[in-house]
Amino acid sequence: MRFEIFTLFPNMFSGVFDDSILQRARESGRIEIFLHDIRAYARDRHHVTDETAYGGGGGMVMKPEPIFEAVETILGNEPARRPPLILLTPQGRVFNTDLAREFAQQPHLALLCGRYEGVDERVRALVTDEISIGDYVLTGGEIPAMVVVDAVSRFIPGVIGDPSAPHQDSHAAGLLEHPHYTRPLEFRGMRVPDILVSGHHAQIERWRRNESLKRTWERRPDLLPRAALSEDDKQFLRALGWRDEQ
Ligand code: ADE
Repeated sequence: MRFEIFTLFPNMFSGVFDDSILQRARESGRIEIFLHDIRAYARDRHHVTDETAYGGGGGMVMKPEPIFEAVETILGNEPARRPPLILLTPQGRVFNTDLAREFAQQPHLALLCGRYEGVDERVRALVTDEISIGDYVLTGGEIPAMVVVDAVSRFIPGVIGDPSAPHQDSHAAGLLEHPHYTRPLEFRGMRVPDILVSGHHAQIERWRRNESLKRTWERRPDLLPRAALSEDDKQFLRALGWRDEQ
């Protein structure tokens, strides 16, 4: 999968994309990431990319021309032949695992990082989607773009060693994941639950499922109405005080 990132701060991305799993995914060719410095597409002598807002008020707004110029130069002049172009903005729809999985189906995805007070409204004519990573405001869309690339890349086959992992993680099935333990068996008086060393695979699976249900009920009950629950799951949850409203 190929990512095209339009930003005023390409240096912010080094480190995140140059280490660990994303670095390996790039080396193996499973993902490609191209950074495009919007400033390089500003035609004026001083490469101005932002200005004060019409109508007054504080804050700077990103100008439309360098953004259009950068996108059209890199992705072409024909909107229908361009990959989806996502603006990262706190006004977008909120990113989640379903969107990450959906974006991972695309062979080519472009991300536009907003800065300052925002982008000139006419940039919205250029983008195909707007995404927020949560209900808080960051200094710009760069960190959100890194979040999107990371979460999407995990769904690309081969990026994560264990191919089933992205489909079993917290949120994948609409539930939080069960607890994990590794050696030592006892640490500072805290023991690994006996069931996990029992060797009873079916019982271990049921225990994990129940822990996952319990954790979701305790921490994120808002997820339960959308989760795929079996009769056994519902029975277990009812014993904890959950009531299914369907
Ligand atoms: N830019 C600033 N805050 C943001 C957010 N929460 N999500 C996406 N882009 C942003």
